[in-house]
Amino acid sequence: MSHLSGKTAIVTGSSAGIGKGIAEHFASQGANVVVNSRSQERAEAAAAEIADETDGEAIPVAADVTDEDAMSALVETTVERFGALDVMVNNAGITTIGPAETFDVDEFRRIVDVNLTGTFVGSKVAGTQFIDQGEGGAILNISSLMSTRGLHRRAPYCSSKAGVNNLTRTLAVEWAEHDVHVNALAPGYIWTEITDQTQGSAGYTDDDIRDRTPLGRFGTVEEMAECAEFLTSTRNFVTGEVLYADGGWKAYAWGAGDQ
Ligand SMILES: NC(=O)c1ccc[n+]([C@@H]2O[C@H](COP(=O)([O-])OP(=O)(O)OC[C@H]3O[C@@H](n4cnc5c(N)ncnc54)[C@H](OP(=O)(O)O)[C@@H]3O)[C@@H](O)[C@H]2O)c1
Repeated sequence: MSHLSGKTAIVTGSSAGIGKGIAEHFASQGANVVVNSRSQERAEAAAAEIADETDGEAIPVAADVTDEDAMSALVETTVERFGALDVMVNNAGITTIGPAETFDVDEFRRIVDVNLTGTFVGSKVAGTQFIDQGEGGAILNISSLMSTRGLHRRAPYCSSKAGVNNLTRTLAVEWAEHDVHVNALAPGYIWTEITDQTQGSAGYTDDDIRDRTPLGRFGTVEEMAECAEFLTSTRNFVTGEVLYADGGWKAYAWGAGDQ
Protein backbone atom coordinates (compact mmCIF):
# COMPACT_ATOMS: atom_id res chain seq x y z
CA MET A 1 0.00 0.00 0.00
CA SER A 2 1.25 3.50 -0.80
CA HIS A 3 2.43 5.60 2.12
CA LEU A 4 0.02 8.23 0.76
CA SER A 5 -3.10 6.22 1.50
CA GLY A 6 -5.29 8.19 3.94
CA LYS A 7 -2.79 11.07 4.09
CA THR A 8 -3.48 14.71 3.26
CA ALA A 9 -1.31 16.63 0.80
CA ILE A 10 -1.24 20.19 -0.47
CA VAL A 11 0.30 20.65 -3.93
CA THR A 12 0.92 24.30 -4.80
CA GLY A 13 0.46 25.26 -8.44
CA SER A 14 -1.56 22.14 -9.19
CA SER A 15 -4.01 23.61 -11.69
CA ALA A 16 -1.71 22.46 -14.51
CA GLY A 17 1.47 20.64 -15.48
CA ILE A 18 3.69 18.76 -13.03
CA GLY A 19 1.73 19.94 -9.97
CA LYS A 20 -1.55 18.68 -11.39
CA GLY A 21 0.11 15.38 -12.29
CA ILE A 22 1.42 15.02 -8.74
CA ALA A 23 -1.99 15.88 -7.21
CA GLU A 24 -3.73 13.39 -9.49
CA HIS A 25 -1.23 10.63 -8.72
CA PHE A 26 -1.45 11.26 -4.97
CA ALA A 27 -5.28 11.12 -5.13
CA SER A 28 -5.03 7.85 -7.09
CA GLN A 29 -2.93 6.46 -4.22
CA GLY A 30 -5.68 7.28 -1.72
CA ALA A 31 -4.53 10.70 -0.51
CA ASN A 32 -6.80 13.68 0.14
CA VAL A 33 -5.37 16.42 -2.04
CA VAL A 34 -5.66 20.18 -1.92
CA VAL A 35 -5.39 21.67 -5.39
CA ASN A 36 -3.93 25.17 -5.44
CA SER A 37 -3.67 27.94 -8.01
CA ARG A 38 -3.74 31.73 -8.00
CA SER A 39 -7.23 31.40 -9.49
CA GLN A 40 -10.13 29.72 -7.66
CA GLU A 41 -11.68 28.87 -11.03
CA ARG A 42 -8.57 27.05 -12.27
CA ALA A 43 -8.16 25.24 -8.96
CA GLU A 44 -11.82 24.16 -9.07
CA ALA A 45 -11.53 22.85 -12.63
CA ALA A 46 -8.43 20.78 -11.81
CA ALA A 47 -9.86 19.48 -8.51
CA ALA A 48 -13.09 18.41 -10.25
CA GLU A 49 -11.10 16.57 -12.92
CA ILE A 50 -8.92 14.83 -10.32
CA ALA A 51 -11.93 13.84 -8.19
CA ASP A 52 -13.61 12.42 -11.33
CA GLU A 53 -10.61 10.39 -12.41
CA THR A 54 -9.57 8.95 -9.04
CA ASP A 55 -11.17 7.57 -5.88
CA GLY A 56 -9.41 10.20 -3.77
CA GLU A 57 -10.78 13.48 -2.50
CA ALA A 58 -9.63 16.74 -4.09
CA ILE A 59 -10.60 20.22 -2.92
CA PRO A 60 -9.64 23.54 -4.57
CA VAL A 61 -8.09 26.39 -2.55
CA ALA A 62 -6.78 29.53 -4.28
CA ALA A 63 -3.70 31.23 -2.80
CA ASP A 64 -0.67 32.99 -4.17
CA VAL A 65 2.43 31.25 -2.81
CA THR A 66 4.11 34.60 -2.16
CA ASP A 67 1.32 35.70 0.21
CA GLU A 68 1.98 34.37 3.72
CA ASP A 69 -1.54 35.10 5.03
CA ALA A 70 -3.16 33.35 2.09
CA MET A 71 -0.79 30.37 2.51
CA SER A 72 -1.58 30.16 6.25
CA ALA A 73 -5.27 30.17 5.34
CA LEU A 74 -4.60 27.37 2.83
CA VAL A 75 -3.17 25.19 5.62
CA GLU A 76 -6.03 26.14 7.98
CA THR A 77 -8.66 25.20 5.39
CA THR A 78 -6.86 21.90 4.76
CA VAL A 79 -6.74 20.99 8.45
CA GLU A 80 -10.38 22.02 9.00
CA ARG A 81 -11.47 19.82 6.09
CA PHE A 82 -9.22 16.76 6.57
CA GLY A 83 -8.07 16.95 10.21
CA ALA A 84 -4.32 17.19 9.60
CA LEU A 85 -1.64 17.96 7.04
CA ASP A 86 0.93 15.27 6.17
CA VAL A 87 2.60 16.38 2.93
CA MET A 88 3.41 19.75 1.37
CA VAL A 89 4.60 19.93 -2.23
CA ASN A 90 5.96 23.37 -3.14
CA ASN A 91 5.61 23.12 -6.89
CA ALA A 92 4.41 26.55 -8.10
CA GLY A 93 7.02 28.11 -10.35
CA ILE A 94 7.35 30.59 -13.20
CA THR A 95 9.95 31.74 -15.68
CA THR A 96 10.63 34.52 -18.14
CA ILE A 97 13.60 34.35 -20.42
CA GLY A 98 15.71 37.23 -21.65
CA PRO A 99 19.27 38.51 -21.88
CA ALA A 100 20.76 39.43 -18.50
CA GLU A 101 22.06 42.80 -19.71
CA THR A 102 18.54 44.08 -20.45
CA PHE A 103 16.52 41.95 -18.01
CA ASP A 104 14.00 43.99 -16.03
CA VAL A 105 14.96 43.96 -12.35
CA ASP A 106 11.35 43.95 -11.14
CA GLU A 107 10.66 40.90 -13.29
CA PHE A 108 13.79 39.25 -11.83
CA ARG A 109 12.41 39.93 -8.33
CA ARG A 110 8.98 38.52 -9.29
CA ILE A 111 10.50 35.23 -10.46
CA VAL A 112 12.67 34.86 -7.34
CA ASP A 113 9.63 35.80 -5.23
CA VAL A 114 7.49 32.98 -6.63
CA ASN A 115 10.17 30.30 -7.11
CA LEU A 116 12.31 30.81 -4.01
CA THR A 117 10.42 32.98 -1.50
CA GLY A 118 7.16 31.16 -2.35
CA THR A 119 8.88 27.85 -1.60
CA PHE A 120 10.02 29.25 1.74
CA VAL A 121 6.52 30.53 2.57
CA GLY A 122 4.96 27.16 1.72
CA SER A 123 7.61 25.37 3.79
CA LYS A 124 7.14 27.76 6.71
CA VAL A 125 3.35 27.37 6.95
CA ALA A 126 3.55 23.58 6.51
CA GLY A 127 6.55 23.18 8.84
CA THR A 128 4.75 25.16 11.56
CA GLN A 129 1.72 22.89 11.20
CA PHE A 130 3.87 19.72 11.30
CA ILE A 131 5.67 20.90 14.42
CA ASP A 132 2.31 21.70 16.11
CA GLN A 133 0.91 18.28 15.16
CA GLY A 134 4.04 16.61 16.60
CA GLU A 135 4.05 13.64 14.21
CA GLY A 136 6.55 14.70 11.58
CA GLY A 137 5.72 15.41 7.96
CA ALA A 138 7.14 15.69 4.46
CA ILE A 139 7.98 18.72 2.36
CA LEU A 140 8.92 18.33 -1.29
CA ASN A 141 10.26 21.33 -3.18
CA ILE A 142 10.19 21.25 -6.96
CA SER A 143 13.56 22.48 -8.15
CA SER A 144 15.00 22.02 -11.65
CA LEU A 145 17.92 20.55 -13.54
CA MET A 146 18.76 24.24 -14.14
CA SER A 147 19.41 24.69 -10.41
CA THR A 148 22.84 23.26 -10.97
CA ARG A 149 23.62 24.43 -14.51
CA GLY A 150 23.88 27.88 -16.04
CA LEU A 151 21.80 28.50 -19.13
CA HIS A 152 21.88 31.70 -21.17
CA ARG A 153 18.85 34.06 -20.84
CA ARG A 154 17.64 32.35 -17.64
CA ALA A 155 19.42 34.21 -14.83
CA PRO A 156 16.39 34.53 -12.49
CA TYR A 157 15.14 30.99 -13.07
CA CYS A 158 18.51 29.23 -12.65
CA SER A 159 19.50 31.27 -9.62
CA SER A 160 16.11 30.94 -7.88
CA LYS A 161 16.17 27.17 -8.35
CA ALA A 162 19.73 26.97 -6.98
CA GLY A 163 18.35 28.75 -3.91
CA VAL A 164 15.59 26.14 -3.64
CA ASN A 165 18.21 23.37 -3.38
CA ASN A 166 20.03 24.93 -0.47
CA LEU A 167 16.80 26.03 1.21
CA THR A 168 15.83 22.33 1.07
CA ARG A 169 19.06 21.23 2.77
CA THR A 170 18.84 23.96 5.40
CA LEU A 171 15.23 23.18 6.38
CA ALA A 172 15.98 19.44 6.39
CA VAL A 173 18.72 20.03 8.95
CA GLU A 174 16.70 22.49 11.02
CA TRP A 175 13.51 20.40 11.21
CA ALA A 176 15.08 16.93 11.48
CA GLU A 177 14.46 16.99 15.23
CA HIS A 178 10.72 17.19 14.44
CA ASP A 179 10.96 14.29 11.96
CA VAL A 180 10.04 16.65 9.14
CA HIS A 181 11.71 15.34 5.97
CA VAL A 182 12.54 18.00 3.38
CA ASN A 183 13.65 16.98 -0.10
CA ALA A 184 13.70 18.41 -3.60
CA LEU A 185 12.87 16.97 -7.00
CA ALA A 186 14.81 18.50 -9.89
CA PRO A 187 13.11 17.62 -13.19
CA GLY A 188 14.90 17.81 -16.50
CA TYR A 189 12.85 18.68 -19.60
CA ILE A 190 9.19 17.81 -19.05
CA TRP A 191 6.59 18.87 -21.59
CA THR A 192 4.10 21.29 -19.89
CA GLU A 193 2.70 24.84 -20.30
CA ILE A 194 5.92 26.39 -18.95
CA THR A 195 7.99 24.56 -21.59
CA ASP A 196 5.47 25.54 -24.24
CA GLN A 197 5.76 29.24 -23.33
CA THR A 198 9.55 29.36 -23.51
CA GLN A 199 10.56 26.81 -26.13
CA GLY A 200 10.21 29.14 -29.15
CA SER A 201 12.78 31.62 -27.86
CA ALA A 202 15.01 29.13 -26.09
CA GLY A 203 17.80 29.11 -28.68
CA TYR A 204 17.61 25.35 -29.21
CA THR A 205 15.11 22.92 -30.65
CA ASP A 206 13.16 20.03 -29.16
CA ASP A 207 15.38 17.67 -31.15
CA ASP A 208 18.47 19.28 -29.56
CA ILE A 209 17.00 18.43 -26.14
CA ARG A 210 16.23 14.84 -27.16
CA ASP A 211 19.76 14.45 -28.60
CA ARG A 212 21.34 15.85 -25.44
CA THR A 213 19.28 13.55 -23.14
CA PRO A 214 20.67 10.00 -22.82
CA LEU A 215 17.12 8.58 -22.57
CA GLY A 216 16.42 10.40 -25.85
CA ARG A 217 13.10 12.03 -24.94
CA PHE A 218 11.29 14.53 -22.71
CA GLY A 219 10.11 13.28 -19.31
CA THR A 220 6.44 13.05 -18.39
CA VAL A 221 4.42 14.51 -15.52
CA GLU A 222 3.49 10.95 -14.53
CA GLU A 223 7.18 10.09 -14.10
CA MET A 224 7.67 13.19 -11.92
CA ALA A 225 4.66 12.14 -9.83
CA GLU A 226 6.20 8.69 -9.21
CA CYS A 227 9.37 10.40 -7.94
CA ALA A 228 7.26 12.73 -5.78
CA GLU A 229 5.55 9.75 -4.15
CA PHE A 230 8.90 8.28 -3.09
CA LEU A 231 10.28 11.63 -1.93
CA THR A 232 7.29 12.40 0.29
CA SER A 233 7.57 9.19 2.29
CA THR A 234 8.91 9.48 5.81
CA ARG A 235 9.39 5.69 5.93
CA ASN A 236 12.92 6.14 4.61
CA PHE A 237 16.17 7.74 5.76
CA VAL A 238 16.14 10.37 3.00
CA THR A 239 16.13 14.06 3.88
CA GLY A 240 17.97 17.10 2.53
CA GLU A 241 18.36 15.41 -0.87
CA VAL A 242 17.90 16.78 -4.38
CA LEU A 243 16.85 14.05 -6.82
CA TYR A 244 17.54 14.83 -10.48
CA ALA A 245 14.93 13.22 -12.71
CA ASP A 246 16.43 14.31 -16.02
CA GLY A 247 16.81 11.25 -18.25
CA GLY A 248 20.56 11.23 -17.58
CA TRP A 249 21.12 14.83 -18.76
CA LYS A 250 23.28 15.89 -15.80
CA ALA A 251 25.32 12.68 -15.89
CA TYR A 252 26.21 13.04 -19.56
CA ALA A 253 29.52 14.79 -20.33
CA TRP A 254 29.05 15.31 -24.06
CA GLY A 255 27.81 18.80 -24.94
CA ALA A 256 27.61 19.85 -21.29
CA GLY A 257 29.43 23.10 -22.00
CA ASP A 258 26.90 24.14 -24.65
CA GLN A 259 23.74 23.86 -22.56
N1 LIG B 1 8.28 21.65 -17.21
C1 LIG B 1 9.57 21.48 -17.03
O1 LIG B 1 10.30 21.05 -17.95
C2 LIG B 1 10.18 21.74 -15.70
C3 LIG B 1 11.52 21.37 -15.52
C4 LIG B 1 12.11 21.59 -14.29
C5 LIG B 1 11.39 22.16 -13.26
N2 LIG B 1 10.09 22.52 -13.47
C6 LIG B 1 9.39 23.12 -12.33
O2 LIG B 1 8.22 22.38 -12.06
C7 LIG B 1 7.23 23.26 -11.49
C8 LIG B 1 5.95 23.16 -12.30
O3 LIG B 1 6.24 23.54 -13.63
P1 LIG B 1 5.26 23.23 -14.82
O4 LIG B 1 6.10 22.98 -16.01
O5 LIG B 1 4.25 22.24 -14.43
O6 LIG B 1 4.59 24.68 -14.99
P2 LIG B 1 3.13 25.13 -15.48
O7 LIG B 1 2.52 24.10 -16.36
O8 LIG B 1 3.31 26.52 -16.01
O9 LIG B 1 2.31 25.20 -14.11
C9 LIG B 1 2.68 26.13 -13.13
C10 LIG B 1 1.67 26.07 -12.00
O10 LIG B 1 2.06 27.02 -11.00
C11 LIG B 1 0.93 27.81 -10.66
N3 LIG B 1 1.42 29.10 -10.18
C12 LIG B 1 2.22 30.00 -10.81
N4 LIG B 1 2.47 31.04 -10.02
C13 LIG B 1 1.82 30.81 -8.84
C14 LIG B 1 1.71 31.52 -7.62
N5 LIG B 1 2.32 32.69 -7.44
N6 LIG B 1 0.96 30.98 -6.63
C15 LIG B 1 0.31 29.80 -6.80
N7 LIG B 1 0.39 29.08 -7.95
C16 LIG B 1 1.13 29.59 -8.95
C17 LIG B 1 0.09 27.86 -11.92
O11 LIG B 1 -1.25 28.07 -11.56
P3 LIG B 1 -2.17 29.31 -12.03
O12 LIG B 1 -1.58 29.86 -13.30
O13 LIG B 1 -3.51 28.66 -12.21
O14 LIG B 1 -2.12 30.25 -10.88
C18 LIG B 1 0.27 26.42 -12.43
O15 LIG B 1 -0.64 25.57 -11.76
C19 LIG B 1 7.84 24.66 -11.50
O16 LIG B 1 8.39 24.94 -10.23
C20 LIG B 1 8.92 24.55 -12.55
O17 LIG B 1 9.95 25.47 -12.36
C21 LIG B 1 9.46 22.33 -14.66
